[in-house]
Amino acid sequence: TIAPIIAIDGPAGAGKSTVAKHLAAHFGLLNLETGAMYRAFALKAQRNGIGQDDAAALQALAATTSITLEPTPAGNRVLLDGIDVTGEIRNAEVTQAASRVSVHPAIRAWMVDLQREMGRKGGVVMEGRDIGTVVFPDADLKFFLDASPEARSQRRYEQAGSAAVVTPEAISRELRERDERDRNRAESPLRAAPDAVVIDSTGLTLDEVLARIEDIVSQRL
Ligand code: C5P
Repeated sequence: TIAPIIAIDGPAGAGKSTVAKHLAAHFGLLNLETGAMYRAFALKAQRNGIGQDDAAALQALAATTSITLEPTPAGNRVLLDGIDVTGEIRNAEVTQAASRVSVHPAIRAWMVDLQREMGRKGGVVMEGRDIGTVVFPDADLKFFLDASPEARSQRRYEQAGSAAVVTPEAISRELRERDERDRNRAESPLRAAPDAVVIDSTGLTLDEVLARIEDIVSQRL
């Protein structure tokens, strides 16, 4: 396949973004982080004073919102109504808000349409929660990256760096909450597609996970 679609799904903190970024660079593909789109929309809702549970208001807001991803070697730039908000979508408040706005079926339907359009021509590694199950059920290759809750919290804690005012307990609580919401929502809950390659990265280094995935991709493309 010249212009494949590779789906990477899994819970927060499993290493999806890092793996997707390296994989895309290795095979000359574009890396698209769909979580950043939900985050950008949550930021806009927050700025407009719209509650995360107000489905009707969120749907109306979506109708006048443009969100685009620009892949770069360092990660995705996210444009909200044409303005770069990449630096504003990673804080704890937006993270929680993204998790909550993403349960609404109308918001998901809108995002899925945008994501299909972005990946339509192939040549992409698309990363999220529902890529292999909903966005591209016919993806050329699907990975489901998982890790124990402890390993995922630990990674997030290390990423936050020493400057961050977060405790390991707060991080693990936040991950657990988001996970449960993703796994239990009615609309496209987080789960591995039946034909996904499931990789548990607990106890593996990034290089080990990448080697395994690159091996599979090389064989199948
Ligand atoms: O991947 P990331 O942590 O940036 O995603 C933020 C939130 O967006 C997740 O907690 C999840 O609830 C939601 N999300 C989603 N579907 C996707 C990507 C992200 O529901 N494809």
